[in-house]
Amino acid sequence: MATATGQRRRVARKGATARPVDSLEQFDHVEYMSQHGHEEVATWLDRETGLRAIIAIHDTTLGPGLGGTRLRRYDSSAEALLDVLRLSEGMTYKAAVAGLPLGGAKAVILADGKEERDPALRAARFRAFGRFVESLGGRYITAEDVGTAPQDMTEIRTQTQHVAGIPREAGGSGDPSPSTAYGVVCGMRALIEEGLGRSSLDGVRVAVQGLGHVGMSLTEQLLRDHGATVIAADVRPAIVEEARKRFAGEKRFSLVTADEIHKQECDVFSPCAFGAGINPVTIPQLRCRIVAGAANNQLADEDRDAALLCERGILYAVDYVINAGGLIHVMSELEAKGGWSEEDAARVKAKAAGIYDTLKRLLTLSREEGISPHAAARQMAAERIQAARRGKAQPSESKRKAAKNSKASAK
Ligand code: NAI
Repeated sequence: MATATGQRRRVARKGATARPVDSLEQFDHVEYMSQHGHEEVATWLDRETGLRAIIAIHDTTLGPGLGGTRLRRYDSSAEALLDVLRLSEGMTYKAAVAGLPLGGAKAVILADGKEERDPALRAARFRAFGRFVESLGGRYITAEDVGTAPQDMTEIRTQTQHVAGIPREAGGSGDPSPSTAYGVVCGMRALIEEGLGRSSLDGVRVAVQGLGHVGMSLTEQLLRDHGATVIAADVRPAIVEEARKRFAGEKRFSLVTADEIHKQECDVFSPCAFGAGINPVTIPQLRCRIVAGAANNQLADEDRDAALLCERGILYAVDYVINAGGLIHVMSELEAKGGWSEEDAARVKAKAAGIYDTLKRLLTLSREEGISPHAAARQMAAERIQAARRGKAQPSESKRKAAKNSKASAK
């Protein structure tokens, strides 16, 4: 039987300045949550299957927290906890800036390798995870993330409705990655206009780090639809081989090794692999004008590294702004309720194209206020969340006035 061992607790939101985490050994997650405004963290251990999972809900002001489930081997549970807390916060800002009626949340499953060797165990663990999601009563909605696939979502679906990213053949919207890649391309167009004064991606040199679900689709779209030149890398030899075959004969495509990709001379460096790749070690090595990719949590330390990029004159497309296409995609699946059509797919594309306008607004704000794009994105997200909080407070205020009036008239 599954046992919910995590204490779901609410932590008062404070305006305290968030401090970077220095040591995982002394990681105080409650302190971290209060500094970053998280609402809840829950842990679930399933004795039967050995599932160990954590769900973090950052903010539900705008709607239920939607965010994918990451399956990964972590060195410690503190590392997993910090990962899920950081990722869930990013989801709040992503939904807020994208104008979606969603809050921010995320889940991690602490992999032990057994789920890779035993498909039946994997399925059982995802069903157990579905019960965990269900226990939160709709405050959290899950989908895919790194390490999880549409088939895993189908297992979760047997236990809860609060899941998106279901395969097409099972009535869902399928892999959101092409939508994420499409949004990244739209965002890149805004950035090259601002940063390079160019009106199209034709001839623009893009270095793509990671040829996974998003990176491969991004590479294809850049080459096929926009006439860009792509230099790419991946750590998996099989993926590199697949890319070599797929883009064989394409003169504007080349491959380099994974440790060289961020050092390439290019217009745009596009991280599409992992988090924290932009840091004080890599920033001096970058030879690009723009950083614009799909990876979540690209900056190792957001304030510090956003400032370092500004100092080097590199324009940064804030990760959660430019990679919102996937979230737009899964949100549309939830709205479609039973059956995914070509019209739904077209709607996703139109909405993801809006990332161009969002980035234009963000870059204008950044320029006019003399703040980094990262700070501008925070401001845009905070304004929307605060407006929603005021809106929520409003009805109770008017109710209070109405009650006062009715008492007055009863007198
Ligand atoms: P994926 O797991 O399919 O692809 C990641 C790729 O990066 C893999 O092929 C991996 O081998 C490669 N990689 C790992 N370390 C590398 C290194 N040091 N150098 C070069 N390549 C390396 O993941 P996916 O779905 O493509 O996502 C990529 C990133 O975008 C992740 O950070 C994810 O959180 C983020 N993201 C993905 C969305 C989606 O729709 N799939 C939506 C929003 C964000």
